[in-house]
Amino acid sequence: MGSPVSRSRSLSAFLQRRGLEQPRRPETSGTHAPPALREAPPCPLLPGPTNWPLLGSLLQILWKGGLKKQHDTLVQYHKKYGQIFRMKLGSFDSVHLGSPSLLEELFRSEGACPQRLEIKPWKAYRDHRAEAYGLMVLEGEDWQRVRRVFQKKLMKPVEIMKLDSKINEVLADFMVRLDELRDERGHIEDLYKELNKWSFESICLILYEKRFGLLQKNIGEEALSFITAIKTMMSTFGKMMVTPVELHKSLNTRVWQMHTLAWDTIFKSVKSCINSRLEKRSQQPSTDFLGDIYDHSQLSRKELYAAVTEIQLGATETTANSLMWILYNLSRNPQVQQKLLNEIQSVLPENQMPRAEDLKKMPYLKACLKESMRLTPSVPFTTRTLDKATVLSEYALPKGTVLMLNTYVLGSDEDNFEDSDQFRPERWLQTKKKINPFAHLPFGVGKRMCIGRPLAELQLHLALCWIIRRFHIVATDSEPVHMLHLGILVPSRELPVAFCPR
Ligand code: HEM
Repeated sequence: MGSPVSRSRSLSAFLQRRGLEQPRRPETSGTHAPPALREAPPCPLLPGPTNWPLLGSLLQILWKGGLKKQHDTLVQYHKKYGQIFRMKLGSFDSVHLGSPSLLEELFRSEGACPQRLEIKPWKAYRDHRAEAYGLMVLEGEDWQRVRRVFQKKLMKPVEIMKLDSKINEVLADFMVRLDELRDERGHIEDLYKELNKWSFESICLILYEKRFGLLQKNIGEEALSFITAIKTMMSTFGKMMVTPVELHKSLNTRVWQMHTLAWDTIFKSVKSCINSRLEKRSQQPSTDFLGDIYDHSQLSRKELYAAVTEIQLGATETTANSLMWILYNLSRNPQVQQKLLNEIQSVLPENQMPRAEDLKKMPYLKACLKESMRLTPSVPFTTRTLDKATVLSEYALPKGTVLMLNTYVLGSDEDNFEDSDQFRPERWLQTKKKINPFAHLPFGVGKRMCIGRPLAELQLHLALCWIIRRFHIVATDSEPVHMLHLGILVPSRELPVAFCPR
């Protein structure tokens, strides 16, 4: 990657120092240096933490709690070094952005096909097995083509609203499951796992019209091996992001073997779900998600397999995690929970199933989710790799620069949110002081933002209606629960909440 360092006026001087640009020809003859070069201003570097040879800031990050606490460390670094700084972790060099104005600037300058940081181990598997790439790994025009196909379904409100009955079907079973799992104090063991089963079952019903039976007492073999494979795949790719995946592959390391085997299981299962869905469709045509996409796009089966696999992966843990954090925030803020219950009851008569249409009359519910995703987001940052030289703030960043878009930092900044450590959904409803839209980006930003946002929000809004109507979510202690970064932000301990029937 090129090193992103200088203020814009001295982009040329910076490029010359690195031999990336030809020195300008003298404008005057004679022995003196040309005025343009002689007068070049000093070239201040981007600020940033200590940059040790080979290690960069790795030791400092480890000292401050390691990668698990990197989101908190980044908050401190932005306070110390400002809204933009540069950091190296080993050989990984990146520029961190932590202000709404910078993210807006980036958004305004983005091209047709923004890029995220490459997930090399995922690409390596697909190349190894001659599979296609999905939205998470695709780039350029191929990404744009596949994105357009899925965007028509996933980002159109009318299309998403049609999915409410499927989401409700799974939620009805989930309520029964929560009742079965609650002990006499309302405690549910490994709540996070149960929420993951719910979100998995929900996205599978939407994509394949298939129930895996995850919310039944006796879970089937197929569902279990699928879920285990996702866990293995996620837990093995990190190592191959920091050490060369080509090396793992050529040495056939255990990590590579496990990763490959996990993807084999995932692809096998997704392919079988897609094939059986599309077969049924040709026998009895009806409007269904996958069939519509396949019939009305030029995607090959292979492209469909890859895209759907990555959509399913993107949808599962993030949605479960967001539901978990909002339940936690409501347990710690009983007045908010009561106000939310009042709103739900005022819109929905008792026993009436919530519909997508009903949510339009529930601004407080939406504010609660926004506030929870600000205070306790699932994803603390996203990335971009610059596809052209770009000036941000007053710094000139060369093509290839990796940008870290620190969205968690935005949510915890007092300049953006007064009393930022308080859970106050009301802040989203106030009319006097509007919140800067670039200060709240839990689903990312721009053309490459999360394609599943409308679906995730619908699932979470409906889930809240069901859960809060049925249970009082009670905090079982008042000790802090910290957020740990394990790919996404997870709680530092089992969530201290109880589900008490109303
Ligand atoms: C609360 C739940 C969710 C959260 C917090 C979340 C968050 C994110 C974020 C931060 C990104 C990166 C965006 C960027 O770089 O600007 C992303 C990308 C993505 N998400 Fe989600 N997501 C959620 C749910 C979903 C769902 C339900 C789906 C599928 C239906 C999904 C599919 C994807 C895909 C495919 C991408 C890559 C998009 C692309 O590069 O074109 N996500 N998500």
